[in-house]
Amino acid sequence: MTTPTSRPEPKRLFIKTYGCQMNVYDSERMRDVLRPLGYQPVDGPETADLVVLNTCHIREKATEKVYSELGQIKKMKEAAGGKMTIAVAGCVAQAEGAEIMRRQPAVDLVLGPQAYHKLPEMVARASRAAGDRLETEFETLEKFDALPKQREADGPAAFLSVQEGCDKFCTFCVVPYTRGAELSRPVDDIVMEARSLAAQGVRDISLLGQNVNAWHGAAPKLEGGGEWGLGQLARHLSKIGGIDRIRYTTSHPRDMDDDLIAAHGEVPELMPFLHLPVQSGSDRILKAMNRGHTAEHYLDIMRRMRDARPDMALASDFIVGFPGESDQDFEDTMNLVREVGYAIAYSFKYSPRPGTPAADMFGHVPEEVKDERLQRLQALLKQQQTEFNASKVGETLPVLVTGKGKMPGQAHGRSPWMQAVHFDAPESLVGQIVDVKIVGSTMSSLTGEYARAVEAA
Ligand code: SAH
Ligand code: SF4
Ligand code: F3S
Repeated sequence: MTTPTSRPEPKRLFIKTYGCQMNVYDSERMRDVLRPLGYQPVDGPETADLVVLNTCHIREKATEKVYSELGQIKKMKEAAGGKMTIAVAGCVAQAEGAEIMRRQPAVDLVLGPQAYHKLPEMVARASRAAGDRLETEFETLEKFDALPKQREADGPAAFLSVQEGCDKFCTFCVVPYTRGAELSRPVDDIVMEARSLAAQGVRDISLLGQNVNAWHGAAPKLEGGGEWGLGQLARHLSKIGGIDRIRYTTSHPRDMDDDLIAAHGEVPELMPFLHLPVQSGSDRILKAMNRGHTAEHYLDIMRRMRDARPDMALASDFIVGFPGESDQDFEDTMNLVREVGYAIAYSFKYSPRPGTPAADMFGHVPEEVKDERLQRLQALLKQQQTEFNASKVGETLPVLVTGKGKMPGQAHGRSPWMQAVHFDAPESLVGQIVDVKIVGSTMSSLTGEYARAVEAA
């Protein structure tokens, strides 16, 4: 006999996330929107009732991965006697929705990044095998308004999306086409979400946006209305009890205004770590990329940042082998890297994307030249990253304990500069910021001793 209940039957949900932090955030929001329907996350796709691939279109390889993954999942769907709904979300869905359906008929749903609030409805429709299977309209505000106001936090560090889309149109990039026009969420909405996270023990918030420092949101009426920039938003969020660390990513050099730089000198909660992609150190290439700034402009921002906050560390993205990039242009990039000295950086070979202006430019760089440049650049960046981590050895750092390690008594955490720190500490410290004395470092992490143990020794 079944007892009547309003709780929906449990169903298994598997979401695989590719690409940037915006997708990581969106995957969490998809989980939030599906939870009331009874969907519980599982670790693998094999037994899932609903599989969502949240995809990335940024480089050719990223896109191709999606199709090969879909081939695998199709086999699982067949093994499950067809009892599996397959949804493709994210930027590949936005860019080539109809093509996905054509190339992989096992796909039930395709939905772009602005349609996630419609996911429950689309899943229901798919199970009745009727109605639209493709949803790629741009309605960003509607998305934010329609997603649940409450978030379920997953640990003491969380993302909070404040801005979506991009109006910059760098000539190599698909994001303006897949994510649509720039849009900023109002302060009140952001504060509500930040409070909900803080109430669940979140201490470290990363404000997210494709161009996060272009954020200019409506200010609260109680604060006089008008529009704020990101510096003011950071000052405001720093007053929320429990929020001890504020970060933002990814920034564009063109939007790094004086007030935001000043805020770094005034707001201790603003962490001394900035991901500010430069892409190239050559003014000629920066111009062809339509970045709208020179190498000198970038170096000037970096100097002013370090004046405001001397312990400021920088991160960046680089593209090598952009069409027309000469040996000298590449050397300019290497010189810029030497001048800045990065804490961490991501570097990529230029990948032509259909429909972007750079794909049709002259002077495409041979693959072997791209390979050689990438190797040289990555060797330098790895060296800088290793040196940056080593520079913290001997210091006692405030570390946010983010979880327990593999063995009992082990913990891991995050430094103010986003470094992973491994140390011995009781599990009860998860969610707290503790002093850890750094005793060792590698290219990718630090090891330390929980300071109380250090004092006792
Ligand atoms: N909004 C961010 C980054 C978005 S994409 C910014 O403006 O910096 C993340 C990174 O992918 C970019 O910084 C760039 O380095 C890289 N990228 C984007 N398009 C690319 C392409 N066509 N080929 C190779 N790398 C690319
Ligand atoms: Fe792409 Fe440029 Fe926009 Fe960044 S700023 S998302 S690289 S178009
Ligand atoms: Fe990729 Fe889309 Fe992010 S193309 S990098 S997932 S905005």
